[in-house]
Amino acid sequence: MHFDPEKLRSYFAGGDGEVTLGDLDLERIPSHVTIIMDGNGRWAKARGLERSAGHVAGVDSLREAVTTSVRLGLDVLSAYAFSTENWRRPQREVDLLMHLFATTLVKELPLFRQENVRLRFFGDLTALPKDTYDVFRQGLEETRNNDGMTFALAVNYGSRAELVRAVRSLAEDVRAGQVLPQDIDEDAVSRRLYTRDLPDPDLLIRTSGELRLSNYLLWQLAYTELYVSEHLWPDFDRWEFLRAICSYQKRDRRFGGVVAK
Ligand code: IPE
Ligand code: IPE
Ligand code: MG
Repeated sequence: MHFDPEKLRSYFAGGDGEVTLGDLDLERIPSHVTIIMDGNGRWAKARGLERSAGHVAGVDSLREAVTTSVRLGLDVLSAYAFSTENWRRPQREVDLLMHLFATTLVKELPLFRQENVRLRFFGDLTALPKDTYDVFRQGLEETRNNDGMTFALAVNYGSRAELVRAVRSLAEDVRAGQVLPQDIDEDAVSRRLYTRDLPDPDLLIRTSGELRLSNYLLWQLAYTELYVSEHLWPDFDRWEFLRAICSYQKRDRRFGGVVAK
């Protein structure tokens, strides 16, 4: 994907004392980076604040991650905002998150317009409160013709639920005589996932030091490189993002073979 070298240089001017733009190989920028944004609650707790303050602070990190991704010329940035298991949280926190998604999206529409970002969602949106759902639809509509980076947000997403949905839809087509069991291959499964028109992620970043996937993109992450950041999500910034990509660039991706691609 295209990026503006001038904007990129000024965005990363100076470095943070540890990493600079010079550490990056601009010829080997990943196409799709996905982020499990974790640690908002711990960030708030460490400051004696309510968990909700962590979520509010996390919005700033996400905005910066979107801008960083555009500056770097990624094709796709995706992020895990709410899992199918997150409904188990206290109702107050769930309500706050749903409200925050809606208000944030409305506020950020000018940024998407300015940066030519196309918005996407993946997950079961039908279970969301109507206000949130309506705002998401509006966001999709208003960014439909943007042809720069895709920003895909996972909301009410769970990988197992996604796979069950795919299996069910295949079973229905088999029953209807439209698909033969022997014709079901990896592509046929991929095409029935929420992510059907997104490339598999090249790099997964999880913040807050947790070493687990939490039901995220189990199928799609088969050959994705992993980077676990010790930063809590509200502390995640462009420099930590840069470190993650530099780390990715040092990897030797073999895809099961013996030579690097
Ligand atoms: C991530 O932060 C945000 C969401 C899951 C919505 P958490 O809320 O999980 O924060 P911790 O993990 O409790 O610190
Ligand atoms: C994963 O974080 C889900 C999102 C970031 C939306 P959680 O905080 O919900 O995951 P666990 O409970 O630590 O596995
Ligand atoms: Mg968490």
